[in-house]
Amino acid sequence: MKEKINKIREELEEFKITSGEKLEEYRIKFLGSKGKVKALFSDLKSIPAENKKEFGQLLNGLRQLAQDKLDSAKESMSGNNGKNDQLDLSRPGDQIPIGSRHPLSLVRSEIIEIFNRIGYTVSEGPEIEDDWHNFSALNFPPEHPARDMQDTFFIAKGDKVEEQISLRTHTSSVQVRVMENEKPPIRTISPGRVYRNEAISARAHCFFHQVEGLYIDKDVSFADLKQTLLYFAKEMFGENTQIRLRPSYFPFTEPSAEVDVSCTICNSEGCNVCKYTGWLEILGCGMVDPNVLESSGIDSKTYSGFAFGMGIERIAQLKYRVNDLRLYSENDIRFLKQFTPGM
Ligand code: DAH
Repeated sequence: MKEKINKIREELEEFKITSGEKLEEYRIKFLGSKGKVKALFSDLKSIPAENKKEFGQLLNGLRQLAQDKLDSAKESMSGNNGKNDQLDLSRPGDQIPIGSRHPLSLVRSEIIEIFNRIGYTVSEGPEIEDDWHNFSALNFPPEHPARDMQDTFFIAKGDKVEEQISLRTHTSSVQVRVMENEKPPIRTISPGRVYRNEAISARAHCFFHQVEGLYIDKDVSFADLKQTLLYFAKEMFGENTQIRLRPSYFPFTEPSAEVDVSCTICNSEGCNVCKYTGWLEILGCGMVDPNVLESSGIDSKTYSGFAFGMGIERIAQLKYRVNDLRLYSENDIRFLKQFTPGM
């Protein structure tokens, strides 16, 4: 009997509990109703009465040892100090719900990818900007209405215009920073958040997002600009998309244009989104004004270039039919969930 007890003790000490399955195997093998320890207890019946006490004690010790090993293995597996003895190791794991990317991030990435394919890098600049980068270097005369309080959030209003610090009102400020720091050829896009002092409504917000594009090299022409924008429109909205350019004005480009794409919603047949014109405005663009090149240290006799700027919200609105700008920043789960991959 003693030998048997020692053998089983050795056996259970050697048993390695490395998984939930092993744990159960161990329990059945030693402590189950048909297990080895139980079997020894039945053997006790055949032990002479005078030895019963001694063997009884030895057996109880063995059972305790087996139980302690089981308990400590359970404890270390549950990782919660054994407080939860209801742990069911055979339960399937909980699914971890994956979130969804914000529609504006999706569109931002798509724009970056489209321009990456034709050699554009990504550059960024600060959201708190000085007057030089947001206005002066971009050829805004001091009395230009865009500097007015109603459009710009000022952080520090110095006595002189040049001392003013504001939240950038457009990503065109990054153009200036890139031109100051890099030598042509320059081919870059600058996505980022911009701010304007506007009342919040379905059609206007005090912050939104833009992507600025800039291409500077020798002999860059307006035809290059048109072809680049046509490529972009087709990649973004589909092969059949067309563009049209309307003359416009921006202080930093000359000539300037506003660009429309053929209405993707009604195939240019006329709907309330395109206001029955068949066209949707998506961006502003133009040839970089020589004054702007010179302000940033680029020789306008050797180099020319084009720039464009578009609103990410606007592109997302057309792609996903979002008709209220406020939805983008309200964090309503019902809205955001619709952009979960595979839904
Ligand atoms: N900065 C302009 C805006 O915020 C957009 C823009 C228009 C950017 C024409 C450009 C451009 O680079 O050439 O409305």
